[in-house]
Amino acid sequence: CGIMGYIGNKEAKSILIDGLRKLEYRGYDSAGIAVCDGSSIAICKAKGRIDVLERQAETTSLPGAVGIGHTRWATHGRPSDENSHPHNDQSGKFVVVHNGIIENYLELRQALEERGVVFTSQTDTEVIVHLLAEEYDGDIVSAVQRVTRKIRGAYALGVMTEYEPDKLIAVRLASPLIVGVGKGENFIGSDIPAVLEHTRDVYVLEDGDLAVLTKDSVTVLDIRTNQQIERDLMRIEWDKEQAEKDGFDHYMLKEIYEQPRALQSTMTGRIDEAGEHILLSDLKLTPEDVRGIDKIYIVACGTAYHAGLIGKHVIESLAHIPVEIDVASEFRYRRPLFKGKTLTIVVSQSGETADTLAALREAKRHGSAVLAITNVVGSSIAREADHLLTTNAGPEIAVASTKAYTSQLVAFYLLGLYLAEGRETVSSQERAALIADLRKLPEQVEAILAHAEEIHAFARSIQDEGHLFFIGRGLDYAVALEGSLKLKEISYIHSEAYAAGELKHGTLALIEEGTRVIALSTQEQLHEKMVSNITEVKARGAVVLGIALEDNVELHRSVDEVCLIPSTHSLLTPILSVIPLQLIAYYTSVALGNDVDRPRNLAKSVTVE
Ligand code: G6P
Repeated sequence: CGIMGYIGNKEAKSILIDGLRKLEYRGYDSAGIAVCDGSSIAICKAKGRIDVLERQAETTSLPGAVGIGHTRWATHGRPSDENSHPHNDQSGKFVVVHNGIIENYLELRQALEERGVVFTSQTDTEVIVHLLAEEYDGDIVSAVQRVTRKIRGAYALGVMTEYEPDKLIAVRLASPLIVGVGKGENFIGSDIPAVLEHTRDVYVLEDGDLAVLTKDSVTVLDIRTNQQIERDLMRIEWDKEQAEKDGFDHYMLKEIYEQPRALQSTMTGRIDEAGEHILLSDLKLTPEDVRGIDKIYIVACGTAYHAGLIGKHVIESLAHIPVEIDVASEFRYRRPLFKGKTLTIVVSQSGETADTLAALREAKRHGSAVLAITNVVGSSIAREADHLLTTNAGPEIAVASTKAYTSQLVAFYLLGLYLAEGRETVSSQERAALIADLRKLPEQVEAILAHAEEIHAFARSIQDEGHLFFIGRGLDYAVALEGSLKLKEISYIHSEAYAAGELKHGTLALIEEGTRVIALSTQEQLHEKMVSNITEVKARGAVVLGIALEDNVELHRSVDEVCLIPSTHSLLTPILSVIPLQLIAYYTSVALGNDVDRPRNLAKSVTVE
């Protein structure tokens, strides 16, 4: 989602709409603005893109020089007019825009309803504005502070009230928010591009910051202690295009770096506070449904299919349900057998891929329940599936998928654990240990990204190669397939991913002096076997880059170069081991002067079969 806010002397309406347009890439299933003319607030909001909002705003009276706006990427509640932001309380005197997830909204909503509050949307956001109305006693800042003590989750907020029309309040907790500083006017925005047309001076808020904006001042407070904080005013030198990419050269690199946040958002609200249970209340599976599943099909295309390969492994080992996996374009025509209670899981970033949608329909035709893992809530696949598990990665722009893939893996871990709990196939200790490691992943990805420079150096050494190999066993083989696809997609260098043990049955013939091989070895029980396979290729002259766990000393010795990843549960390594592979593909593509974000012959979403 995207947030925009304005306080100054100009007409807020057009400034807000223009700002939202710059944020549209963050989500665009609905949008809205609220403007205050000094005494009352008017709201205009609509399902659809910003254009729809703009047309509606033209015919709505929205006078005033203070306002907040929002472009939405649905998480709780489908895209609709009533679920669009801003949300107001019953008196209409408070409005809120929100980005993120309120984890405890169900209990808060129930308590508010018991106190007689009538809700008008299905969003988690609406609880905030009703709480605000309850807490208000003449000072909006302290009311917001009290409300933030009641809500749990990751969020950014923009708040406005008729009682204090000379103020805008912005709060940041784990969702990005900036304040743009102008002359006689100030702004809030989810991102720098939203305000860049008006000012190049910004404060980047940090977690726990509450900013109070008037047209002439910006004060940042620590939300807990109420102490004033000095944040550095940043002067943004980026051009507009760079700003949309957050200063990164390409969307792909930006999205690679967004992975810690994407993983976190996909987990948020789905693990209980104690870290013992998985909460997938969005799924409509009853305990009997969970226990009764005889078989699972996973169906997807491209990178989503590669996520499915990991998903198969995860579900089989945690929930003990047999899983078959197919690429969607094959699934339909091979007459899969639907016997007993089958659950079909379709995986699709866009939710619009024609082959995957057709497979979904085919599965439904055979009476199978369908669960969709998708990044786009309002998409065709999301709408037609019986159960929806969203990846909350935010919009992915680069054709080569990165953050959607790792978020899909998180979705599979959550689902695997959830099914395992319902079927009692994993002990509570094992579950808690896995959850603890799952929660560490965002930080561990961050740690790998901090060493991107080493991977850059390796990429330089492969850019002139005609072809190369990725090898691995088990989960590493599935990640090798994804690494090879990434490289092919954007560098146009031919590569092949091979199950390391299978190499000797034919493909080994292609290894010659100097052939580059990327060998993944993250599975402890397979370390020795991998060392043998690496020795096989090295004996034929291969130059090997190993991707290995930091404590796997034996592997370090057997390869020419090594890229280390932090230790984690053996099922979770794919999220870490894929990061260097994404970076290798990226840097190679850049070095070759390719169009990284829009590779030749490919499309982000393929809506033809
Ligand atoms: C296209 C994209 C791939 C993507 C695949 C499936 O081919 O180029 O990056 O993995 O479609 O897309 P989906 O949106 O269904 O995940």
